[in-house]
Amino acid sequence: MTPGNVFAEELEEILLRLSRGEFGVSIPDIDERTADPKLVFLTRLARTLDQRNQQRSKLEQITNNINAGFTLQDVLEKIYVEFREIVPYNRIGLALIEPQGLVRAYWARSDAGHIHLAAGFTAPLAGSSLETILQTGQPRILNDLVAYLDAKPNSHSTRLIVTEGMRSSLTCPLVVRNEPVGFLFFSSTQPNTYLSQHIEIFQQIASQLVVIVEKAKLVSDLEQSRQEIKHQNEALQRLDELKNTFIAIAAHDLRSPLSYILTSIDLITGPDAAMYRDHQTTFLEGIQRQVRHMVHLVDDLLDLGEIQSGRFKLHLQSTRLSDILEEAVRVQSQLAAAKGTHIELVMKDDGIVLIDPPRMRQLLYNLLSNAVKYSPPNSQVRMLAQRQPAGWRVEIVDQGPGIRPEDRHRLFQPYQRLSAKPTGGEKSTGLGLAICRSIIEAHAGTIGVDSLPGKGASFWFTLPDRNE
Ligand SMILES: Nc1ncnc2c1ncn2[C@@H]1O[C@H](COP(=O)(O)OP(=O)(O)OP(=O)(O)O)[C@@H](O)[C@H]1O
Ligand SMILES: [Mg+2]
Repeated sequence: MTPGNVFAEELEEILLRLSRGEFGVSIPDIDERTADPKLVFLTRLARTLDQRNQQRSKLEQITNNINAGFTLQDVLEKIYVEFREIVPYNRIGLALIEPQGLVRAYWARSDAGHIHLAAGFTAPLAGSSLETILQTGQPRILNDLVAYLDAKPNSHSTRLIVTEGMRSSLTCPLVVRNEPVGFLFFSSTQPNTYLSQHIEIFQQIASQLVVIVEKAKLVSDLEQSRQEIKHQNEALQRLDELKNTFIAIAAHDLRSPLSYILTSIDLITGPDAAMYRDHQTTFLEGIQRQVRHMVHLVDDLLDLGEIQSGRFKLHLQSTRLSDILEEAVRVQSQLAAAKGTHIELVMKDDGIVLIDPPRMRQLLYNLLSNAVKYSPPNSQVRMLAQRQPAGWRVEIVDQGPGIRPEDRHRLFQPYQRLSAKPTGGEKSTGLGLAICRSIIEAHAGTIGVDSLPGKGASFWFTLPDRNE
């Protein structure tokens, strides 16, 4: 047998394996100038088949990944790793066409360093060179990006990828059912990288690639919608819980004052009204107290609703700290006097703070009223203000029962009435501290408590220095 025949047999065997879909088969080299033209043809055929099989296998791998639920990002990462043997590149970018006629960079990966043309970059399609590519329907090769940029200095996107170190590019349109959807950009740090054979390769895989991109995009969109729905559901669930607690509180806390009011009115207007004539003022004062309490409760519930729905806005004003603290102490001292409790204000330092005064008043009223409410009669409450390295600290110290360790984590949460109970028959709804925390956090400060059970509580908050 001649060496030519041996070679022909070997080739036949190779072609058989390739036709079964194998790839990476070793194909012997042949000197095309001297060999039998039939053998040259068969060798070329073997190489083409090998390349096709290899491409098909890569695409299959990628399609499998998509079917396994990979997102477009994941698929692109795989393409970036797997396509090297099919097309040469140092960078791959994907841009998608948006309904408004914009082209938006969706993803880019480069092994040449920093990416300047990153995801999010947009440019109008109309009038661009990408539009020309769509019109011709053909991929475009630019084998000298620096020269191209010299000729078209306004091409911002070319400037960006040249800055990244790219010197040649292959831009491939992605078209689904005659509709252009985007572009895949292969770029290389070497000039003259791309040949017409790369366009051919791309065209062979284009239709499948487009389906992959479309499908992966759908998976990504679906995942995004799923996440959005999940977040909406969680928000709805929180609102629902809030509503239930709201109803429970309203039902519980409005019911007793309302029945008190109704009973009082029944008595002073009923058949035995004459008996109660002398006590009318007492009844009316009682009714007034109950109505005040209901208004306070409804205000708190509305506040909390506003805070929790995110509609809470501050109206900041430069205010002297001592002015707002003195005012709060004055107002609360009148109420404390009924219990024989004395409130003292110690201004270690004073200065201007940027605050929302009505909100700050609300916070101070609650902290001071708590200090009075949960301490025994005839107590001392001390409010202390002092400068800190980057702001202010205000502390309200009382002589009440303090906070039990097991109660600490529930403090500052809405609707929490804890172990300490009012000592003078005051009302308690468990909303005040939750509102306080939101107010302080909106001021970029922090709120907390130091306490030893039985030795009183020290509620404190900080306010950072802020530029007006
Ligand atoms: N100074 C304090 N000492 C001891 N316990 C306190 C003190 N301040 C608050 N607490 C406990 O924390 C709970 C929550 O306080 P918060 O101010 O949020 O609500 P509240 O005072 O019960 O009602 P309101 O909504 O009218 O303020 C109180 O019920 C009380 O048990
Ligand atoms: Mg309170």
